[in-house]
Amino acid sequence: MTTLNYDDLATEYARHRRTYPGLIEHIVRRAGVTAEHTVLEVGCGTANHVAAVRRETGAKCFGVEPSEQMLAVARTQPEDLDLRQGYAQELDFPAATFDLIMSVDMIHYVREPLEYFRRAFGALKPGGYFVTVTDSDWIIRNRIPMARYFPGTIDAEADRYHPIPRLSGDLALAGFGDLNEHVVESEYELADSTRFRDKSYSCLHLIGDDEFADGLAALDADLAAGPLTANLRSLVLWGRRPQ
Ligand SMILES: C[S@@+](CC[C@H](N)C(=O)[O-])C[C@H]1O[C@@H](n2cnc3c(N)ncnc32)[C@H](O)[C@@H]1O
Repeated sequence: MTTLNYDDLATEYARHRRTYPGLIEHIVRRAGVTAEHTVLEVGCGTANHVAAVRRETGAKCFGVEPSEQMLAVARTQPEDLDLRQGYAQELDFPAATFDLIMSVDMIHYVREPLEYFRRAFGALKPGGYFVTVTDSDWIIRNRIPMARYFPGTIDAEADRYHPIPRLSGDLALAGFGDLNEHVVESEYELADSTRFRDKSYSCLHLIGDDEFADGLAALDADLAAGPLTANLRSLVLWGRRPQ
């Protein structure tokens, strides 16, 4: 598994990355989040997603994030958020604090997820929901344009993404019940390659310079003929602390 330093990526991340369409709506609806609830996002980065939870629901929202540069951007969000520096595997909140703990595109950075899952289980209220948003092997292989123009990212991602059955197994070991999976997907028209050129996706830092240059040239050539239909897919892995 390769570790990237998000202090170096924060500027491009903030410039290009936004919430996934439909993801927060799915999570807050299924978890029944209201203004009375307390929500934590672990590895919140620039806090796009947890700020959206706050906007949608009025819930009291917390974010934990190791990178000071990502946190600096997160602190510019207009929503009222309690943001703290920290790591998933060192989560240290009082028992039974949260109604929902979530992470988005974070779990592949945690080498041993079980320790994080156990700590999150303890920090959830009985009946609280636990959400891990990640990519399955199938999603990684079918990303457009990423897998098509930068196919080296497929193996690079396989090295760092946990297989879904492994995550489910660790969730069960930590005590979570009601485990299930849901895929949130959308398409969009990609008209220019700037966010790929700027490497706002961390996997583009994991392939060689030649492959990156060739992929970008091919993408630009195809975009010159017109926009591409691109996809965004996320696998949402749900668990619940029993009552
Ligand atoms: C791809 S970004 C996702 C950020 C945010 N969740 C979002 O969806 O925009 C991954 C984030 O996980 C953070 N991260 C990396 N290792 C972590 C760890 N061990 N515990 C918590 N967060 C971590 C990174 O610093 C980065 O901000």
